[in-house]
Amino acid sequence: MAVTTRGSNIRASDHISEDRLWQRHMAMAKLGATPRGGVNRQALSAEDAQARKLLGSWAASRGYDVFTDPIGNLYVKRPGTDASAKPVLSGSHLDSQPTGGKFDGTYGVLAAFEALEALDDAGIKTKRPIVAVAWTNEEGNRFQPGCMGSGAFAGVYPLEQLLSGKDPQGTSVRDAFAELLKTAPARLEPRLGFPIDSYIEAHIEQGPILENTKNEIGIVTLIQGMRRFYIDVFGEEAHSGTTPLKLRKDALKSACSMVTALEPLMADPTDTVRYTVGRFEIYPGSPSTVPSKVHFLIDLRHPDIATLERLGDGIASICEAEAAKRGCTVKVTEYTTVAPMPMGAEAVALVRDSAKALGMKHIDIISGAGHDAMHVAKVAPAGMIFVPCWKGISHNETEDATAKDLANGARVLADALVSLANR
Ligand code: GLV
Ligand code: MN
Ligand code: MN
Repeated sequence: MAVTTRGSNIRASDHISEDRLWQRHMAMAKLGATPRGGVNRQALSAEDAQARKLLGSWAASRGYDVFTDPIGNLYVKRPGTDASAKPVLSGSHLDSQPTGGKFDGTYGVLAAFEALEALDDAGIKTKRPIVAVAWTNEEGNRFQPGCMGSGAFAGVYPLEQLLSGKDPQGTSVRDAFAELLKTAPARLEPRLGFPIDSYIEAHIEQGPILENTKNEIGIVTLIQGMRRFYIDVFGEEAHSGTTPLKLRKDALKSACSMVTALEPLMADPTDTVRYTVGRFEIYPGSPSTVPSKVHFLIDLRHPDIATLERLGDGIASICEAEAAKRGCTVKVTEYTTVAPMPMGAEAVALVRDSAKALGMKHIDIISGAGHDAMHVAKVAPAGMIFVPCWKGISHNETEDATAKDLANGARVLADALVSLANR
């Protein structure tokens, strides 16, 4: 049991409201709702602005301080009793994949906000402030790179480079953020990044382990590493009706053979390697013109740094060999490199203690997905709490989770936050 105020054993977790947390998810899910029951709420879009506005209105009704930073991370601060103490941070992201679900990211933001409300309802004061955060552009679909806001906060990427980045329509992060502020105004703190004591992120698991093992809580010990590459294949445009096959420099056929030729490198009897081509763009995209250019993306993940290095480093030579076979050329550009990131020992232990004290069935788990915690862990001890999701399905409109499981994770979170904020 977390001792919260002198002489009292009130638990923040007892004041988590399963219904309130669920209703907040359902309200958020309307913003960018898709016909198949998911959400399309891409980073810094009109829908993202609506979601931030809604969170801001809930925060205002509690009297919390709401502010944003130059990359658009949105913070909701509940004060502590020691104004000079570094805050404990908790949150995730409100942006989604184009065919995303209602819970990926949103859960971590709403669970953090629910924890703040539970503390208020319980009358618990903490020494440190607790700040709920919605990081900008975790998903990395509209704008690159993903985990942009948390990366900027942790000093991983230069701000100017991020603000100048453009979406496929040519809108910059800078302009999209300025537009978003018109709908969801928030006090702008010119500082990017501030000292924090610790960070805990709650998230749906996005995989099947908790459900299959009938565990209620996953205690994340490590987030596996990730490398992402732009592959640009250059051939030559030619008439599809007249140009003999032998004379073509077909960038599409070359790109397809690269995707296939990489399979043996990525083959893994333990099924630990994650190799994905999730975007494939063909130019000029005309039925009667041999493609002159293909742009595709490789996403590669592994928990072991040496394996991740070996596999990622092997990509360029295989692509070059395939390009040469068809008279094409290829440019391989790595644009995201994140080493496997262990979670902080103290944060992990506190989350485990909190789950144990609440009598919840829990296991240690490695995160296959990337999360903002992997950047925040560079500047403060960080931990993550996973809850089960239906069949482990995520990045899919059918993504689902139960109100009970979501509330259980919020309970573990609330007690862990109090422990961190009072030490
Ligand atoms: C985050 O959504 C990821 O791609 O792991
Ligand atoms: Mn997520
Ligand atoms: Mn996601």
